[in-house]
Amino acid sequence: MNRIDWSKYLAYFSQINTRQTPASEDRRTEIEDLLVEVLEISGSDCPKPFGTAGGFGNGTEVVVHLNATPRSGIQGNLAAKFAGPLAIRVMREDKGDDAISFFQQRAKTGHPLNGPEHVHFQRSLGVIQRSGYNLVIHEWVPGETLEWLRENYWNTRPLSGDAAQEILRQIVFGVVIPSWAAASDTSGVLWDIRDANFVVSGYEAPGGRIRVAFVDTGNLRHLIKSTENRKGQIHSGLSRLRNTMKRILMLAQGKWEARPKFYEREFELAFKASGLADNLSLLPDQEPPPVELAEEACHAFLNTIREQGFLRPEP
Ligand SMILES: Nc1ncnc2c1ncn2[C@@H]1O[C@H](COP(=O)(O)OP(=O)(O)OP(=O)(O)O)[C@@H](O)[C@H]1O
Ligand SMILES: [Mg+2]
Repeated sequence: MNRIDWSKYLAYFSQINTRQTPASEDRRTEIEDLLVEVLEISGSDCPKPFGTAGGFGNGTEVVVHLNATPRSGIQGNLAAKFAGPLAIRVMREDKGDDAISFFQQRAKTGHPLNGPEHVHFQRSLGVIQRSGYNLVIHEWVPGETLEWLRENYWNTRPLSGDAAQEILRQIVFGVVIPSWAAASDTSGVLWDIRDANFVVSGYEAPGGRIRVAFVDTGNLRHLIKSTENRKGQIHSGLSRLRNTMKRILMLAQGKWEARPKFYEREFELAFKASGLADNLSLLPDQEPPPVELAEEACHAFLNTIREQGFLRPEP
């Protein structure tokens, strides 16, 4: 029997667009061996799989959700201050060096945005380097990525207008505003804002408590690095944010009766009129960052799209 359940991981390759290919069976066994050793799992501790393989990325070979949270050994120490579900991330062989020192520093110092109060950023708890592998212990955010949900869930069930609005609100209030406000005047910003980097929990139950978390927290390294390209990062962050918002609203438009097509022009007008982009751009540059202005602009934007009928009414 496999020690890690790979079924979900394998299914992702046909459910989302990716240029990556699944790890071979041999490679999967190697990863199981590595994690058994690192996590100090013995056969008798482990009658069923100790973990479930989840997503992967260009820098990440796989993120494994640990079913039983080990509370002793190295990872027990790393997780001592964290009661929630845990994951272990296996970095791709040639990719992990930069990321690993950032994750270590983030776990150690709590900066940037690594603490219980920052619920919209996946927590990093520590790193392990073993036999040439870079591993990160972090929080597991239950749920699926926005990308997966778009392609495999809300394609067949309508996304309610309230849920769409809540997702947009958490992305802007929870992720973009705090991270851009945390930028220093020489650093970059969090610019890789896209559907595959957000995990959503609580989407199944109607009226359930939705939580959106930014999981690709390696990207927060831009907040502590000087860059010549800050303007470019702000520009691409804003354009990615706009596209993500548009795609979510498209789902809320869905195929519902009265609104067969997406009102692209109305979206652009509402976005412009709210001043959201301008106010977000001020956050990295001004001290103290004008957070209230950005929040007001986001409220204005959300109100406009509601008034304009972008948000699907509850059935
Ligand atoms: N804390 C988490 N909880 C649940 N799933 C997670 C978590 N962290 C990562 N994942 C899953 O792993 C995938 C890859 O994570 P992430 O985007 O951080 O990797 P990456 O290598 O930096 O990606 P890329 O370089 O392609 O942007 C996510 O899309 C998601 O499916
Ligand atoms: Mg990613």
